[in-house]
This record gives sequence, structure tokens and C-alpha cells, in this order.
Amino acid sequence: MSTSAELKQRDNQFIHPWDDMVKIGGHQRTLLDKGDGIYVYDDEGNRLIDAPAGMWCVNIGHGREEMAQAVYDQIMALTYVSPWSMTTGPAAEFASLLAEQSPGDLNHVFFTTGGSTAVDSALRFVHFYNNMRDMPSKKHIISQKRGYHGSTYLSGSVSGKERDKGNLHFEENLVHHIDAPHPLLKPAAMSDAEFLDACVANLENMIERVGSDNCAVFVAEPVLASGGLIVPPEGYHQRCLEVCRKHDMLYLSDEVVTAFGRLGHCFASEAVFGITPDIITTAKGLTSGYIPMGAFLVSDRLLREIKERGGDSAVFSNGFTYSGHPVAAAAGIKNLEIMQREKLFEQARETGPYLQQQMQKLRDIPIVNDVRGLGLMSCVECELKQGSDDLALDYELGNRIDEHCQEMGLIVRPMINMCVLSPPLTISKEQIDEVVGILRKGIELAMQDCIDEGLWVPEKQAV
Ligand SMILES: Cc1ncc(COP(=O)(O)O)c(C=O)c1O
Repeated sequence: MSTSAELKQRDNQFIHPWDDMVKIGGHQRTLLDKGDGIYVYDDEGNRLIDAPAGMWCVNIGHGREEMAQAVYDQIMALTYVSPWSMTTGPAAEFASLLAEQSPGDLNHVFFTTGGSTAVDSALRFVHFYNNMRDMPSKKHIISQKRGYHGSTYLSGSVSGKERDKGNLHFEENLVHHIDAPHPLLKPAAMSDAEFLDACVANLENMIERVGSDNCAVFVAEPVLASGGLIVPPEGYHQRCLEVCRKHDMLYLSDEVVTAFGRLGHCFASEAVFGITPDIITTAKGLTSGYIPMGAFLVSDRLLREIKERGGDSAVFSNGFTYSGHPVAAAAGIKNLEIMQREKLFEQARETGPYLQQQMQKLRDIPIVNDVRGLGLMSCVECELKQGSDDLALDYELGNRIDEHCQEMGLIVRPMINMCVLSPPLTISKEQIDEVVGILRKGIELAMQDCIDEGLWVPEKQAV
């Protein structure tokens, strides 16, 4: 058995997502080895609240024995069959359960291995759809700056986080980004209604620039998650859907984060934002992260059109060895059963607004620039120099907050200078109080560090 110190050293052979290659060899990551409910435990036995639920995914909480049992039972019954020519009970049943839960006529499910492959496959489906309709020029994709849609070549290209674009290559001919509908971008003199009009006009203007005949799809997260928890102005998604309809474009709602209770419903597109998109992509909470899986759901309407126009054959030549993996599907079925039996969506509709309310109280800390969120997704953004774009300083501040919080028993996920919370749906109001209390102390301690080290001079002391 390796010691913790040896494992941490060996971990340098593991290239992690977004790893800094220059630092490989010198990492000492926290080693976690146990999870239970909203808590995880490190190798020294310290209990930490998992406020991001891993990566917005462990929605039913850690360490569920019945999930382990469901996965075990399926492995012992049947580990795998090729989804090309055969099926299994769990895959068939899970597809039909998802169709029941989805809005409108999104009644067909394509299973993938995670969120990136769900978005990638859905976009390939959009291209396939327009080929079948004899509209081969309709291939261009419009998405949002600060949106995140994954790490395959296409889903990464559709993502719009500028700070991730530096060192890789992306598809630039087919993908166009419009400004994120970020309320912080609203000029002071603009009314809310004018701001909404301006956000929608961004989409219309881009369509005009690219040409309606070339535009295939608009891709949007209901709430931009890893781009900094941006909640669009009310009515934004409905208005954008109308624009899409006008230009014969599809609307792809990327619910990799927002589905499975994060916003208090199985899917948020219709229940929270009043839209029935043409395609929904999902992952993460789909299996609460117990086993990797993703999916896209597509409407009857699109399939009908393909059938009508496809002639004798319309093969969608896209898929994965693990599409509809029976063990992942068994985990998905059990996950949904737990969520429904324990009324976790209802619970999230209670605790979500409470989390938002408590987080707003952090605004009195001088370096807190904004607090925003919806449901069980919340973000506090800190800034030492208001309005500056000093990336190094932003990272420094975020890391300090993270370190202080972790010392006090709370994992927050610093996305540069933003701490994002998306706890398991099982979190109670008392636990939310504890989370926000530690976060407050963590921000205050980081602020004090910055004062002590001369990185920041509070305004009242400035000369
Ligand atoms: C909205 C959204 N779409 C897609 C993805 C990609 O999912 P995955 O990391 O499972 O490939 C993510 C991941 O964070 C996401 O937040």
C-alpha cells in the first residue's frame, strides 16, 4: 500500500484537466478518500463540506449504498453489450424515463459518455438534420462568450471563455460567439427592458452577419455555469427561441449543469425558463457523478422531418462504445428514483432561495464585487481593484480564499476570483448557514492577507 505522500507524488503522472504543464512534477493536490452525504474526507481524516458537489454533479450526495448496490447488481447481471445492434433493460428503461421527464416532445434520447460528448453529438446531429433537409449551408453555430460546453474539439470551440482560448486551436469558421447576457454588463443608464432588447439584438445581429441561410443552431446554457454563474435577464431564453424560430434555426439548451434538481426541477428549460428547446444536452446530475454518462434529448419534430425527407435511409453515423452503457443506465435509474422518492427537487426549491438570500449577506465585505445565482447555484465574485482585469491578482485572491476555506472545512471551487457553490441537493438550511459562515471568514482572511502583504489598500486608508 502506498502512503499518502507517495500517492501525491505519483499523482504527478496524472495529467489533470486544465493542468499547467510547467508545474507538473511539483503538484501536491489534496487527496480525498471518502465521501458521505455533503461531506468528503481527506487522507488525514479532515472532514470537508463539498460545496461544489464535485463539479456540479454529486446531486444526491456521496456514499449512497443503494447506488453501489444498483451498480453492483447490474455488473453481476450483465456488464456490457454493443449498443449498435442490441439493447439492455436499463438503457431502454432509462431512455423512456428521461423522455417522461423532458419538456414538450423531446422524447428521444442519445446516450453519450459525458457532457462534452453530449454537446458534440448534438451539434453533429444538427448538421445531420440540415443535410437531411437538403440545407447543407445551414451549419453555423452561434453560442455565447463565457459559455462552457466541453472539451472535445467542437464543444470546446463552441465554448466562449476567452481565458481558455490562448493555447489551443479551435474551429473558428463555423462558430460565432455573442456577448453573454450578463446583468453586470448593463450600462447604468439602460433600463432592464432595454438591456434585454440589447441582449436579444446581439443574437439577431450575429444571424444577420452570418446569414440566416447559414445559421443552424443557437447554443445556450439556461444559466451560464462555469463562465461565472450568469443568470440572463428574465425573458431572454424565450425571446432567443422566437428569434431562432424566425430564422429556421434550432435551439440547443445545454443543461449539463442545470438539470436534475440544480434549479429545483428535473429539467430547467421549460419549468424555470418557459421554453421548449429542440435539443437538450445533459450529464453530471444524470447519474449524480457515480458513473460517467451524458445524453442529448431530441424532439419528435426533428425526427419526423428527418424521416419524411431522409428517403430510404438516414443513418446518423455517430456514437460511442459506451452509448447507453447498462451500468451507467442502472445508476441513472437509481439516481432518479432517489431524487423522486426523497423529493429532492422540492427540497431544492426551498433551500435554493435560502442559499441565495444568505449569500447576498456577503455583499458587505469590501472586496465582494457581486453575489449572484439561482436555485442551488451561487457565486461570490471578489475583486481587489474594482474594474481591473489583473488576472494574476484575481488568481491569487481566489486561491487564498480557497485555501482559507479548506482549512476551515469547506471546499469552494475558485474559478479565478469567483467562488462557486452548487452543493448536493440534500443540503439543509443549517448546513447552508455553516457554508456561508465559513465562506465569509475565508474571504475576510484572504482580504486581510492582501492588506498585510501590500497587495491591496482599503479605500478608507488610501491617500
Ligand atoms: C454546461 C456544460 N456543458 C458541457 C460540459 C462538459 O461536460 P463534461 O465535463 O462532462 O464533458 C460542462 C462541464 O462542466 C458544462 O458545465
